[in-house]
Formats: sequence, structure tokens, C-alpha cells
Amino acid sequence: MSNTPLFDKIDEYARRRRVSFAMPGHKGGKGLDRTIQHNPFRLDVTELSDTEDLYAPSHALSSSRQAAAEFFGAQDTFFLVNGSTAGIYAMLAASCSPGDTVLVNRACHASVINACVMLGLSPVFIKQDIIDSFAIPAAINQKNVADMLDKYPNTKAVLVTSPSYYGLASDLSVLAKITHTRGIPLLVDEAHGAHFAVDESIFPKTAMSQGADLSVQSAHKTLNALNQASYLHYNSDIIDKDRVRDALRMLQTSSPSYLIASSADLARGELVSSGKRMWNALFERCENLREKVAARTKVKFMSMLMNSQYNIEKVDETRIVMNFSAYKTTGFEVSDMLREDYGIDVEMADLLNIVCIATPANTQSDFAKLERGVTAICDSLAPAETEPAFPPPPIPDMAMTPQKAFYSKGSYVRLDEAVGCVSRSTVIAYPPAVPIICAGELVTGECAGYISALMEVGAKLIGLNENGFISIVE
Ligand SMILES: Cc1ncc(COP(=O)(O)O)c(C=O)c1O
Repeated sequence: MSNTPLFDKIDEYARRRRVSFAMPGHKGGKGLDRTIQHNPFRLDVTELSDTEDLYAPSHALSSSRQAAAEFFGAQDTFFLVNGSTAGIYAMLAASCSPGDTVLVNRACHASVINACVMLGLSPVFIKQDIIDSFAIPAAINQKNVADMLDKYPNTKAVLVTSPSYYGLASDLSVLAKITHTRGIPLLVDEAHGAHFAVDESIFPKTAMSQGADLSVQSAHKTLNALNQASYLHYNSDIIDKDRVRDALRMLQTSSPSYLIASSADLARGELVSSGKRMWNALFERCENLREKVAARTKVKFMSMLMNSQYNIEKVDETRIVMNFSAYKTTGFEVSDMLREDYGIDVEMADLLNIVCIATPANTQSDFAKLERGVTAICDSLAPAETEPAFPPPPIPDMAMTPQKAFYSKGSYVRLDEAVGCVSRSTVIAYPPAVPIICAGELVTGECAGYISALMEVGAKLIGLNENGFISIVE
């Protein structure tokens, strides 16, 4: 074989058969439908006369979209083959024009800011409270949204993330009322909630059922679907559906993978036929794990928070967030130990927490290994000397639009030298890919200090160059 380092690396990773509490939801194929497992490649076709046009569906695709819309409570559902990222771009492209103002929660995914750069939009950010004990953003405060809409009456759309990466869902029905009384659409990044519709008695209510105009869900994050398989749900009197379709046609690949789209269809079919049973069983497994770990360690769990606190509508109990603030460690270190010493991949880590994405494809043995790994790690850790306080910095002022900053001439400087300058970069801690500084914002001392501290503890930062320098507008 010729030199194929990427293939070799991924192949070697796959052979290790690690326990996965990360994406994709099918966990190394374990959860995938047999038809796909057996020979996926025969389904790897794109648009042909026999396979239909993704945006002008006739028989089979129309029926699949209809079935998905019915299950997810939408008027129509589009299949996405380039992830929720493409859906977020399309939601904004369909509801705004260049120069428009959009109201966005600050702890949004990077794709929201990138969409603002591409589409020439002015984002105005909804400040989010911080849950001190976890040092993470709380759910969306509806009063903040109403106040911001009063302050920015020309806002053309409101886009919020719910649930968050940490599984906190906001009360979207109140938000829908607030935006709709002003004739503004509510767009929801529900990337982490594709499983919610399966049982609203145990999961948060979906964005569709609460009146959102558009929502995106990443099937690949929590369902048995291939990477990038996602849904865009439509249910709007404000947004033109044809504009959503046209935006998707522009933003997604012109060679859509029917392997990916079929996996989104199969994942929906599975939710309909056996989803309730599968997800209820997983719910119990997660509860069981929390009880066992809580009894043997000082780990705190997100689900211990009261739902009514921090504007939380409901916590997704299958999103396992473990908080290690009682120990002298960081979430990054715990994640490294789980990987190196126990062969377990978690979805993400931050200073205090690790986040595990559990899905029905995780076996009882996966859970037992996670429980053993976490309890053994805790046994080896010293107690924390002081409660760490690491709240994200305040939102900096925006000096120019993200698009103007992106297209400005710039240069890379040290973080401390950048204070007071306009950033050309959007600096993101990854995951959860939430912006610390957005392109067009003034770099503050607090942001620079926060980024430096994150670098010191081994966080992965996007938007800086290889020397850790930031790009500023000259
Ligand atoms: C909150 C949120 N929104 C959107 C995305 C993008 O989703 P996708 O990977 O399906 O493009 C992510 C990805 O992690 C995310 O966490």
C-alpha cells in the first residue's frame, strides 16, 4: 500500500475498539441497522434518476420526509447530509438578509457566528447566567430575550441553542410567544436533542412542539445514524419554505450521500418502532450509573440541579455530565485518564466537568467500565483545596460586524498585546465550540486572561495560530 497516514491512523483507532461516550450515536456501528452494517457501500449513491433529487423529492423521499415530519411534529422535515451546521446556515439564510440583526444566545455553536460572517448578519448576544458550581452557561432567560428585543426592535430572527451541550433545555414555548407577538421567527439549534420526541414524559419538550419556526437536530449525535446525518424541521407561518429549500441547495454538497440520508431515515424509523423502549432502558442505565458513582465518589451530576433553577425547563438525563470540582484535578485530566488508562472516550471535557454522550448503542458493559474508571480515578485524586471559580468572561463589545472583521486586513499578535484591538478571529474552546471572542469584538483583558488560562490547562483552542497568537484588525 502507498503512504496513507490518515487512513492508517483512523484504521488503527477503530481497531482499538474503545468504549465510546462520544459521537456518533451508533458507537462504532454497534447500533446501526443490519442493512447498513452488512454492506454500507451499496447505499453510497447520490442523485440519479432512480434515486431522486434531495430538494425536489418525488415518491420515496417525499414519504420519508412526511414520516419524519409526522414523528417530529413538523409541517415538513428536510434531510441534511452536512450536519446541523448546514442547517444553521440555512435557517439564518432563509429568515434574514445581509445587514440584518439577529439575536443569538452567547453560548451558541461556532457555526452560528460563521453563518453571520458568511451572510453579513449582525449578531446581538443574549447574555446567559452562569451555573457557578459547574462553571457553565445556564438555560436561556426569557426576560433577557424580551428586553433585548425591546432594545433591538429591528431584530429579524432569534436563534437559541436548546438543549445545551450539557443537556440543559430552555423553555422555548415562552420564547416562541415572545418572538411571535413581534412577528419574528424563533430558530432553534436542537443539535443535541434528536431523541427528545421519543418520549416527552422523560425528555424535554421538542422545539417543534413548543412553537419554533425552524429547528435543526443532529441525528448522528444521539441516534443510530451516520456522521453528518441531521434533520431540519419546518413549522412556520413567517418563513417561506421554498427559501429554506433554496438555501439548503446552495449550502449543502451537490452530491448528497444517500448513505447518510438513508441512515437518518432508518434512525427515525427505529425511533418510531422501538425508540420508547430503547430510550427508557437507557434512561434507567444512566440513573443507575449516577447513583453508583455518587455513592462512591464526590462527583456531582448535572441532574442534581433543580429543573426550576437557572431557567432550566428540563435536564436531559441521558447526557451524563460529571463534575470534579471536589477534587484537585480538571475535567481535561479526567478525560485523559479515562482515555489512556481505561480505553474510554468521552465527548468533551472542560475545567471542571466531563460530558458523556450516552445512547442506546452503549452496552451495559460500557456503563460498567465507565463506572469503574471514574470511581478508580476519584480514589486516586486528592481533594480540592479551594472551590475553583472559573466563570467565562463577560461578552466583549462588538466594534464591527463579524463579516467586516473577517474581510479586514489583519495581523497575528500575542494575546496580551491584542487587548483593546478588534479581533479578526473567532476564538473558541473546542468542544463545545462556544465562542469566547467573536470576529469583530474588542479583545478584553478578561478574555485574553481566560484564553491563556485555558491554554495552560490543555484546552483545545480554535482561532489562534500555532504560536497561540490572535488575529486582529490592523
Ligand atoms: C450545539 C451545537 N450545534 C450545532 C452543532 C453542529 O452540528 P453538526 O456536527 O451536526 O454539524 C454542534 C456540534 O457539535 C453543536 O454542539
